[in-house]
Amino acid sequence: MEKLYKLVSDAQASLFVLFHKTWVYHWNVVGQDFQQLHTLFGGQYETMFEEIDRLSEHMRYLNVKPLSSLNRVLEVSIVKEASSAAGPDQMISDLLKSNMDLCDLLVKISEESENQKSYATANLVQDLMESHGKFVWMLRSFTDKPSSKVQETVEVLEETEVEEVEEIETELSETVEE
Ligand SMILES: [Fe+2]
Repeated sequence: MEKLYKLVSDAQASLFVLFHKTWVYHWNVVGQDFQQLHTLFGGQYETMFEEIDRLSEHMRYLNVKPLSSLNRVLEVSIVKEASSAAGPDQMISDLLKSNMDLCDLLVKISEESENQKSYATANLVQDLMESHGKFVWMLRSFTDKPSSKVQETVEVLEETEVEEVEEIETELSETVEE
């Protein structure tokens, strides 16, 4: 069971850091997608708050003490802390990677739980896999759309074309008048 306890403890710490990172990005995000990202990150950190509580209480049932020292949480977590300089694109890719890493860890716990016949742990972890799989899908959907820079370039190009067409029309009408 020791291996399972260690994995569950790693997941608790990682979930805690991911919760904190998502919350920080919810406050700090800026840009034209502000409202959508602020809301997306908001929903995710609220879900994780409940998940941490559920997982930590389950650890008490397993007779394992949830990590409480923030220093220890950071040491053990497979998820790195929020970057203070991240723009919206980096926030999305950072959260995407962290959620994917967490999903990989959850798969390991699920397998070990089944080996140890700890079916309640397997059930809980499978719920976490489902919700973090959903987060991966949502974050990935953001990276698939054109970035704001590409969108700006498209708009500039479109404006240029309109101006060029207007110039050509003016030239033409002047030529006709002459
Ligand atoms: Fe908020």
